Amino acid sequence: MDLSTTYLGLKLKNPLVPSSSPLTRDISKLRQMEDAGAAAVVLYSLFEEQIYQESQTLDRYLTQGTDSFAEALSYFPEAPEYQSGPEVYLEHLARAKRALDIPVIGSLNGVSTGWWVQYAADIEAAGADALELNVYYLATDLHTSGSEVEEMYLELLRDVKSAVSIPVAIKLSPYFSNIANMSYRLTEAGASGLVLFNRFYQPDLDLENLEVTPNLKLSSSIEMRLPLRWIAILHGRIPADLALTTGVHTITDVAKGLAAGAAITMLASELLQHGIDRLKILRAGLEAWLVEHEYESVFQLQGSLSQINCAEPAAFERANYMRVLSSYEPDYPQRFGSLWFDQKAMR
Ligand SMILES: Cc1cc2nc3c(=O)[nH]c(=O)nc-3n(C[C@H](O)[C@H](O)[C@H](O)COP(=O)(O)O)c2cc1C
Repeated sequence: MDLSTTYLGLKLKNPLVPSSSPLTRDISKLRQMEDAGAAAVVLYSLFEEQIYQESQTLDRYLTQGTDSFAEALSYFPEAPEYQSGPEVYLEHLARAKRALDIPVIGSLNGVSTGWWVQYAADIEAAGADALELNVYYLATDLHTSGSEVEEMYLELLRDVKSAVSIPVAIKLSPYFSNIANMSYRLTEAGASGLVLFNRFYQPDLDLENLEVTPNLKLSSSIEMRLPLRWIAILHGRIPADLALTTGVHTITDVAKGLAAGAAITMLASELLQHGIDRLKILRAGLEAWLVEHEYESVFQLQGSLSQINCAEPAAFERANYMRVLSSYEPDYPQRFGSLWFDQKAMR
């Protein structure tokens, strides 16, 4: 069975790639990922805030105090791993490259343009095979328009691209007015890949202590529906490879991602929850699934249910909206008996 795929110009032995997570901080865990069948690995991110934190510029930002970025920096976590500066990151990347045969993708995480972007070049020099640019940005300013936010993404990507010659993928949020248009413009600005989507961590409220509680819950498979839809819509329509992140847990999830048109499926929560060796099961399971369903390769499956190839392309869009709503059958008619049926009859 040919499980190979191509992502960012890299020939990968299969479509299973551990995404950026704390598991990638440890060289022995990276080796374990490679041994368990990972085709490539994306390292944890080097944050813009970390870079500024280590530089003189931090003082300037903090003392000026007018920039919202300064406020963001003051909330930066005190955990030792986030306190380590760019040198530690670059050293780790170089060690990972020496330790592994699979491609190593560096990750730069930020929102604003500035001299910090030059660290993209350092990531390349440390040996990264490609770079993932994560723009984790929640626009809250009342006076910033959607197009200004979009321009910020594009400008940042252009700056990063001009600093490196390795391929760059951009990890996005799903919150754009038109993701298709934005995706296309990002490819025009130089993105070789789109990583869909960043998972926004929603804070909760602690009513007893009157606090906001930023606790992280790992994903579940249902969350995959959002990237799945957009990958199916974008596949074959933009000149970039698509990576699916969020909600990939099972063999079926991997197969669905590929059928929608993903070049690779990424894993974080599943490996954090059930261990790195899950990769072995997913790899063997994908192979068995392909055999059982009479596919000869991953390539043959890729995009087979994308909007271009799907018998029901409308299912990805509004056209199917009313049908979906009316197809819902509550499972409580017996309990509520005639009330439910009466209401249905009245409509
Ligand atoms: C504890 C934790 C740390 C993460 N750190 C990063 C990071 O440094 N950079 C990044 O781009 N994504 C980071 N992510 C996001 C993951 O790479 C991934 O996109 C997200 O968790 C959704 O995938 P999943 O459903 O497989 O978990 C992190 C996720 C978790 C759970």
